[in-house]
Amino acid sequence: MPKCSLKNRLLQLRLSTCVTTVLCLVAIINFFSFYGKYNYSHINPQDIPNQLYKEIASNIVLKKSKPDCEFENILKSTKTTDSWDAPKKNENFKANNIVNGSYVPEECNPMFSVAVIVTYRNRQKHLDVFLPYMHNFLRKQQLHYKIYLIEQEDKKPWNKGLLYNIGAKRAIAEKFPCLILHDVDLLPLDESNLYACLNNPRHMSASIDKFRYVLTYDYLVGGVLAITADQFVKVNGFSNRFEGWGGEDDDFYERLSAHGFNVVRFPPRMSRYTMLVHPQEPKNSRRHQIMAENLHTKSHDGYDSVHYQTVDERQQKLFTQLRVKL
Ligand SMILES: *[C@@H]1O[C@H](CO)[C@@H](O)[C@H](O)[C@H]1NC(C)=O
Repeated sequence: MPKCSLKNRLLQLRLSTCVTTVLCLVAIINFFSFYGKYNYSHINPQDIPNQLYKEIASNIVLKKSKPDCEFENILKSTKTTDSWDAPKKNENFKANNIVNGSYVPEECNPMFSVAVIVTYRNRQKHLDVFLPYMHNFLRKQQLHYKIYLIEQEDKKPWNKGLLYNIGAKRAIAEKFPCLILHDVDLLPLDESNLYACLNNPRHMSASIDKFRYVLTYDYLVGGVLAITADQFVKVNGFSNRFEGWGGEDDDFYERLSAHGFNVVRFPPRMSRYTMLVHPQEPKNSRRHQIMAENLHTKSHDGYDSVHYQTVDERQQKLFTQLRVKL
């Protein structure tokens, strides 16, 4: 009998040692596989001011009596919002000085004009949180900006790339030199995340709470991207061929690198976002195939070949709304 119990105990010991060892190994592997991505390569904060694309819309009138708006203090700010606080802070929202979704600082001459382009369908709850939050965030940065909502009105599969092309067309017609392509479910948390273009396209949403603040892959450009109007036109915008969820952003990255643009990022502490919860859109099962075809044929479909029908255009207080059918 004692022999048997000894054997049992030995077996138990070995089992628990085994389990502990495996768990330790998993933790170690996990740690190292994410380690690099927490610290993705980014611009040195001291170099940011030199890389900013300081352009304002040609239809903005500057006054000699006013000073230039400050931006270095914004870049240096360490203020940040906790992700669980972010969406709930808009109850006493005041829409002072916002007209048609646009704002021009009063006390100073803006250094940047920025079109924030949001593609949209059936996300009213998100929009109700996004608009007041973004107006509060952006007014603090003393930019000249305008929020465009490009809404797909039909029942066809969602086509985000095409909607971005439409939005860019509209913003460029209104002389915006910098475009920020923005998901409606992402809210910036760091005040130092200046909403401006750089000399290279900038992936802004590098550190999202839903992904544990980890950059999921290096060539990611989805979420929030800042790109100059000239660069957007030069790469011929997005492919119009991606229907359903996914693919158009990776294809866009290929377009950027084919034209020699480096995608740059701010450090993680300036790039945090919170993501509002939502059900996943149906994925486009052909997305890899279309991307391969676009690469192979060097497809030129894009900004200059976009087809759509405008249903209507409305000037709302907090945004300019373009409703379209594809
Ligand atoms: C806002 O939109 C209305 C309607 O299109 C237009 O008449 C007005 O000039 C616009 N105001 C500004 C400041 O853009």
